[in-house]
Amino acid sequence: MKGKNIVIIGGNSGIGKAVAEQAKAGGANLFLYSRNGEGNNQFDVTNEGAELQDLPEVIDGLVYCPGSINLKPFHRISMEDFKAEMDVNFFGAVKVLQACLKNLKKSEAASVVLYSTVAVQTGMGFHAGIASAKGAVEGLVRSLAAEWAPNQIRVNAIAPSLTDTPLAKQLVSTDEKRAASDKRHPLGRIGTPKDIADATLFLLDEKSSWVTGQILHIDGGMSSLK
Ligand SMILES: NC(=O)c1ccc[n+]([C@@H]2O[C@H](COP(=O)([O-])OP(=O)(O)OC[C@H]3O[C@@H](n4cnc5c(N)ncnc54)[C@H](OP(=O)(O)O)[C@@H]3O)[C@@H](O)[C@H]2O)c1
Repeated sequence: MKGKNIVIIGGNSGIGKAVAEQAKAGGANLFLYSRNGEGNNQFDVTNEGAELQDLPEVIDGLVYCPGSINLKPFHRISMEDFKAEMDVNFFGAVKVLQACLKNLKKSEAASVVLYSTVAVQTGMGFHAGIASAKGAVEGLVRSLAAEWAPNQIRVNAIAPSLTDTPLAKQLVSTDEKRAASDKRHPLGRIGTPKDIADATLFLLDEKSSWVTGQILHIDGGMSSLK
């Protein structure tokens, strides 16, 4: 990580914050953007007019963290709800990737990391909105990985299961809910931001220099074990 320029959209909470802390400890130069960012680092991916300001000339790593958890039965998900999930998870990522491409190309070996969800691989009730939006993210990841491989830009996603972050707060708001969530995972616990950040740092690092177009399932066994 030493001396690498890492852009993180959403580096002040949950998984993104853990990624920022680990990358900083490894000597990276961080460029963090989010709605609560200060000055030129304030950026809302859902605001059509907003632009990323002061990007570094060379981007070695790009991590896109904005996401949503909005679980409802399908018949109660309005078109506006579907569009809102697409805006923050998919169109926001498209906008950021298009803004960063020129600078990613200037790196000798760039790595892009996005986040999907376990609910794309494994069907789960009430997840139609988020599973659809993250399904689009997974398609984007594979397509861009193919398109940008000649430019030595790797593109991967991590598909976490329930992870203990502010986004997931309402799902683990009581001891009973947390215990039930822990129990649903083959390894007996929900994820921590560190679990997902560790995998993200691997994807950003040259240790994964032959890995692209992959969806890494970091989920305590949820997606593939009974
Ligand atoms: N936590 C889970 O259980 C879980 C499970 C599966 C997948 N994931 C995925 O993992 C990723 C990270 O989630 P997390 O749990 O770490 O979420 P989080 O704690 O809510 O953090 C999200 C980050 O994104 C930023 N952000 C949100 N909306 C934004 C917007 N419109 N424009 C710019 N920045 C925005 C937030 O900062 P501001 O508030 O300052 O904008 C924050 O820094 C998401 O894509 C999520 O879908 C999470």
